[in-house]
Amino acid sequence: MSRVRVALALGWSLLLSAAPLTAQQSMPTGDPANGRLLFGPCRTCHYAEAAMGHNNGPNLHRIFGKVAGKQPGFDYYSQTFKDAQFVWTPEFMFAWLENPMAMFPDSTMMSLGVPDAQQRADLIAFLKQASVRER
Ligand code: HEC
Repeated sequence: MSRVRVALALGWSLLLSAAPLTAQQSMPTGDPANGRLLFGPCRTCHYAEAAMGHNNGPNLHRIFGKVAGKQPGFDYYSQTFKDAQFVWTPEFMFAWLENPMAMFPDSTMMSLGVPDAQQRADLIAFLKQASVRER
């Protein structure tokens, strides 16, 4: 049993308080082409292209480096995201996407997340790639 699994068993509040440590759950190398396919379910709520704007969820173009929950023009952030003070990094997104509602129970993002670590890495590789393109 890895240390992360033990933390999971003890509950997400513990994992959250140890959030910087989750980066040590080394993120696998992502495949952006597979991530594009995996982004299908996310796309019902999010666009990764700047020109497409917001959907039911906020736009995800160049999301890395942004403070969570602060994008202008998106009116459906939860109070938790409005109050959030953290910056989206690949490592934090990798940890969060495993079970987003467990980490932020009052979030308005209705997603069960992506339990598979390789799939999360692929999604993040896709979002990075989509961010260096204009459209
Ligand atoms: C049913 C709609 C829906 C689906 C499906 C969905 N999201 Fe979201 N997402 C949202 C909403 C709504 C928010 C705002 C959450 C909040 O404020 O609590 C959000 C927030 C986010 C954010 C933070 C954006 C910011 O500006 O801080 C990221 C990153 C994100 N989602 C990624 C994803 C990924 C990756 C997937 C697919 C695995 C996904 N989402 C699936 C609706 C969705």
